[in-house]
Amino acid sequence: MRGSFEKHGNIGVIRINNPPVNAIGATVRAALVDGVKALNADPELQAAVLICEGRTFMAGADITEFGKPMASPNLPEVLDVMEASGKPIVAAIHGTALGGGLETALTCHYRVAVASAKVGLPEVKLGLLPGAGGTQRLPRLVGPATALEVILSGDPVPAKAAAAAGVIDRVIEGDLLAGAITFAQEVVAKGSAMPLVGARTIDLASLPADFFTTARAGLAKAKRNLFAHQQIVDLVEAAVTKPFAEGIALERKAFMACMMHPQSAALRHVFFAERTAAKVAGVDDSVQPREVKTVGIIGAGTMGGGIAMNFLNAGIPVTLVEVKQDALDRGVGVIRRNYEATAAKGKLTTEQVEQRMDLLKPTLEFTDLAHADLIIEAVFETMAIKKDVFTRLDAIAKPGAILATNTSYLSIDDIAAVTARPQDVVGTHFFSPANVMKLLEIVRGAKTAPDVLATVMGLSRRISKVGVVCGNRDGFIGNRLLGAYGYQANRCVLEGATPEQVDAVIRKFGLPMGPIQMWDLAGLDIGYRSRQDREPGSFDERVTRTSDRLVEAGRFGQKTNGGYYDYLPGDRTPRSSALTASIIEQVSVECGITRRAFTEEEILERCMLALMNEGCEVLREGVAARASDIDVVYLYGYGFPAYRGGPMHWAENEVGLPKALERLRHYAAESGDHWLQVSPLLEKLVAEGKSFKDLR
Ligand code: 3HC
Ligand code: NAI
Repeated sequence: MRGSFEKHGNIGVIRINNPPVNAIGATVRAALVDGVKALNADPELQAAVLICEGRTFMAGADITEFGKPMASPNLPEVLDVMEASGKPIVAAIHGTALGGGLETALTCHYRVAVASAKVGLPEVKLGLLPGAGGTQRLPRLVGPATALEVILSGDPVPAKAAAAAGVIDRVIEGDLLAGAITFAQEVVAKGSAMPLVGARTIDLASLPADFFTTARAGLAKAKRNLFAHQQIVDLVEAAVTKPFAEGIALERKAFMACMMHPQSAALRHVFFAERTAAKVAGVDDSVQPREVKTVGIIGAGTMGGGIAMNFLNAGIPVTLVEVKQDALDRGVGVIRRNYEATAAKGKLTTEQVEQRMDLLKPTLEFTDLAHADLIIEAVFETMAIKKDVFTRLDAIAKPGAILATNTSYLSIDDIAAVTARPQDVVGTHFFSPANVMKLLEIVRGAKTAPDVLATVMGLSRRISKVGVVCGNRDGFIGNRLLGAYGYQANRCVLEGATPEQVDAVIRKFGLPMGPIQMWDLAGLDIGYRSRQDREPGSFDERVTRTSDRLVEAGRFGQKTNGGYYDYLPGDRTPRSSALTASIIEQVSVECGITRRAFTEEEILERCMLALMNEGCEVLREGVAARASDIDVVYLYGYGFPAYRGGPMHWAENEVGLPKALERLRHYAAESGDHWLQVSPLLEKLVAEGKSFKDLR
């Protein structure tokens, strides 16, 4: 039993205790029903308080139960029992009352909360909609416009704002239970009024006539492909136009449809994948993280500046080191302009901008890093320069300081080897723009100490990143997969698809941009330069030849108003280029390829299954600990649509591993060379009828 019942004079107290977040699983549902029965069975009791133990009020239904047969009673049935109570119930909220937690509170007759509490309906983030009356009760309390905003955003609302909107009846100062009991006694003293949210009528006076039509049109654009959103609009409209019971029945049907939809399965996978990524082999709770009060960053270029902003945002002082004054000034200028742009949008005050800039110490003196607890290097991607930086760091950094590199591809072990403290060296691979992208790949070297990993994992949360630990191999997880994906995109173009076709297929799938647009954005010259340093046999020169020709023609991408696509000055819209088309055709001829028509399906399968296939290799080599970590990397570092769960989840659940294997074998045989080899791990999983989860 996950609850208890006690008496405080004439007030009963229903306590829920299901750590860590009081998720409303079967035992909690039973405890709620028992509590209501106990209240009504005891003639001495005149009202009850519903309160939770631990760090929070009920944070929602138990997500682990979703998609499986549900034990009776379900939450709507429990709430029917509460609503039928002959005596008033006061919900006493602390922490976060979310989803089914808030819906339970909305079914109570009154709600009180501590000032630090938050309430919200985050179901949409799981591909769901509130399924226990939230779409019908919230509009009756706060009006359809506010309700729609809250339900569609899924974001929590602080208690004081919720009180102003009418969701919370009183904000309690001091002890919550005592305050809630006092509130309940006042209700009793006034004659035990039992207001039900479901019985309220909605004031429609200020609602524009086209409110729901406009909302639907906006979502069709902003949330294209998403299953739950339009139904939320329909349900809030039903709250306005239909009797309560009818609205509840519609909500239940829509909730079940969402729960069974692949998008919700994918988003639930993402919820747990993100949390599972925090569990690192060899780093348990007994490992004490090091203290990080100050951070040093070397290099104020594209990445160094963005990385610095993360720490400044979290209130951590940063010393930023450059080699030349003009590079330092430029880097600091970019940081300031970024903050000022945010302030111009009203998301920061001028004072906050200055507070953040005050935490930044720009310098040309390397020795200013001597006292930093964590030092992140973001200089040019050249091993000799990285080794020089780490040799100098080893000489000046204080004992116990963490020495991190933002390298995209270079070996952490080779960099660590130039120091006398390889246990303190780690990779912290941020993604561009580093102040925006949520991913942090944490690269574990052969000698990286567990407490260094624990510290960087903890720090990633402090700076609002999702950390994923990976092994030290070329390209780590993300860039390694990106290589396989880009290779297939290039192959498709060489064999007959147009860049426009490839990009359109990937965008339609849900990524914000296609691979070829992405190259134009990043700059074709970067890959061109890096290929000059690579062994000729280490990449397929045929597929990069078009890009090389474009660079040699002065077309570097957006920055030169031309790459694969043409761009008008100051306009990032890609426009078809006749020159690019003729270069592609010429390269195809040179490579002896007869161009042919491509279907959407083939482009999608080749690009996306290549991601999964390389993911299998990354797993086989132990570079990623689990398939879900690869999904997290792709979701937060590369814009893979969350509602598809990541490349591994998508391939396993939407395509199916046996079919994925069959398609990959087909494309590998067709390509006839070694650039697409089916992963032995995938072969093994399919042969044994296993899934990625069996690898844990
Ligand atoms: N069901 C099952 N497990 C849950 C859960 C839930 N609703 N919410 C959190 N957990 C688990 C997490 O998986 C994690 O488990 P782990 O320790 O084994 O990894 C543990 O609880 C702690 O969670 P966090 O690490 O996320 O803890 P935080 O303190 O950082 O955050 C929180 C707490 C804000 C409550 C956050 O966990 C959260 O947002 N939870 C999800 C809330 C939610 O989506 N509720 C709606 C559910 S759907 C619903 O209610 C349907 C209804 O309309 C019928
Ligand atoms: P950048 O060229 O924009 O900036 C590098 C900066 O380092 C320059 O300002 C340069 O003056 C400075 N610098 C060079 N040597 C230095 C030294 N010895 N001491 C102090 N400063 C020095 O490069 P960018 O793009 O910021 O990349 C930095 C690192 O981040 C590289 O290792 C790169 O591979 C990696 N990275 C880059 C990403 C990107 O999208 N640009 C993404 C993820 C990682």
